[in-house]
Order: sequence, then C-alpha cells, then structure tokens
Amino acid sequence: MHVLEGKGIQYIKGSKTILDIDYFSLEEGKVNSLIGVNGAGKTSFMHILALLQEPTAGQIYFKGETVTKKNLLKLRHRMAFVFQQPLLLDMTVRENVETGLRLRKFPKEEIKQRTDKWLEKLGISHLANGGVRFLSGGEAQRVSIARALALDPEVLFLDEPFTGLDSPTRGQLLLDMAKLLHGTKIATLFVTHDYAEIPYLAHWLTVIDQGKIIQSGTPEEIYENPKDQSVVRLLQWLPLGTK
Ligand SMILES: Nc1ncnc2c1ncn2[C@@H]1O[C@H](COP(=O)(O)OP(=O)(O)O)[C@@H](O)[C@H]1O
Ligand SMILES: [Mg+2]
Repeated sequence: MHVLEGKGIQYIKGSKTILDIDYFSLEEGKVNSLIGVNGAGKTSFMHILALLQEPTAGQIYFKGETVTKKNLLKLRHRMAFVFQQPLLLDMTVRENVETGLRLRKFPKEEIKQRTDKWLEKLGISHLANGGVRFLSGGEAQRVSIARALALDPEVLFLDEPFTGLDSPTRGQLLLDMAKLLHGTKIATLFVTHDYAEIPYLAHWLTVIDQGKIIQSGTPEEIYENPKDQSVVRLLQWLPLGTK
C-alpha cells in the first residue's frame, strides 16, 4: 500500500531547478533508500515529503489523501524524523525521548510506558537518567531513534543518520534498525550517500542525481543492471584502481 506519494514535484530556487520528480512513493512496511552524491537533492526532497518544505509545484498524498495547508499539521504528527545530527536537547536521555510524546499530549502513564519500551529496544535503558552531553555519537543517535519510534509513526524519515559513526558502531546500529523496522508497518525513507548501508535496510533503491530520479528498483535489480556509468560509480562498483 502507498503510504506517502509525491506527484510532479518540482522545487525551484531562483533560476535553479533543485528537484524535478514525476512520481515517488513510500510503501507500508518497506524501506525505500534514496541514494545520491552530496548536493543531489536528497535532503530537499526529504523535507518536501516530510511536509517541512512546500514544493514549487506538485502534490503530496498521505494514504491517498491530498496534503493541503489544512491537514498538514495533523499529517505531520503521523511522521517522525532522524537527522544526521541527533539534535538532542540538553536534558536527560529519558526527557529527550519523552519530548515528542509530551508535545503530542499523550497521557503521563503512556509516555512513561512508551519511553521505557523504546529505551529498552535501542539498548540504552541504562543511560536513561544521564545527561545527553556525555553520550558517544552512536548512543546519541540511538536516543534520537528511540525518540522518533516512540511516536509510533506511520512514516519514518532517516536523513543519513549513520554518517559520521565509526564503522563497527554503524554496522551494529544498522543491524538493530533492520530488526526494529522490518516486520512493522512503518514506511521508511532512508537517505544515504553510502551504498554500503543499502544491503542492511533497503527493500527498494532510488538513485537520485541533480534533482532527478535516474533509476529505481530493488537493490539486486540495480546492482545487476545499473542504468549507466553514473549509477555504477555511485554504487562504487569499479574494482579498486579503475577510473
Ligand atoms: N534553500 C535553498 N536555496 C538555494 N539552494 C538550495 C537550497 N536548498 C538546497 N539548495 C541546493 O540544492 C541542491 C540539493 O541540496 P540538498 O538537498 O541538500 O542535497 P543532498 O542532501 O543530496 O546533499 C544543492 O545544490 C543545494 O546547494
Ligand atoms: Mg543531505
């Protein structure tokens, strides 16, 4: 089922067309990975789909319902985000996870219950009452993931959340994310510039370059049949030393 769809999305700033995308969808229970080099338009596109940025042209649909100024805030509450920088507030780990739930005015008991559950699932229960400024990069990102998933979102946006972590930390977090997401109904947009992260999480792969989708399919399809050299380069397939 389509959870989120974008049709005819254009985003123009001055004389520059930053995005020009005919159609894109996120499906229930699936992770769609958007891959592209720096400046390809990944973050801009994510912000438009996440209803944080209005496109110059085009329409977003949430479970078939057209997004309008009227329903936008309500629909945004059914989505959650994890950014490259965890953006934690200078409070305890527990308070950070509780923040979004408080804003959405959940009852006190449910806030505690959900927070405990997601701290546990992310393996950070032991850090609950400590401040966030002493956390490692991986721990901080776990807090930010717990904060997002505690909201029980229908759509989850991950904007290069593993970039900048050392590789054992990143590998473990990717494995844990796969366990948390696969088998749920959450429709996930996973933005990355690093092809090595794809096999862990992605059901579907969308390759973006200069604001346009240049290829999409299952990771296997794209690996086996890359459209052109730019896709090959992006997937870093050339044997070492080849130009
Ligand atoms: N508000 C803006 N005004 C002008 N240019 C922008 C704006 N936002 C993004 N861009 C440009 O759009 C392109 C895509 O940026 P971005 O979406 O951040 O790419 P990515 O996340 O793939 O690195 C870049 O060339 C960037 O400089
Ligand atoms: Mg970006």
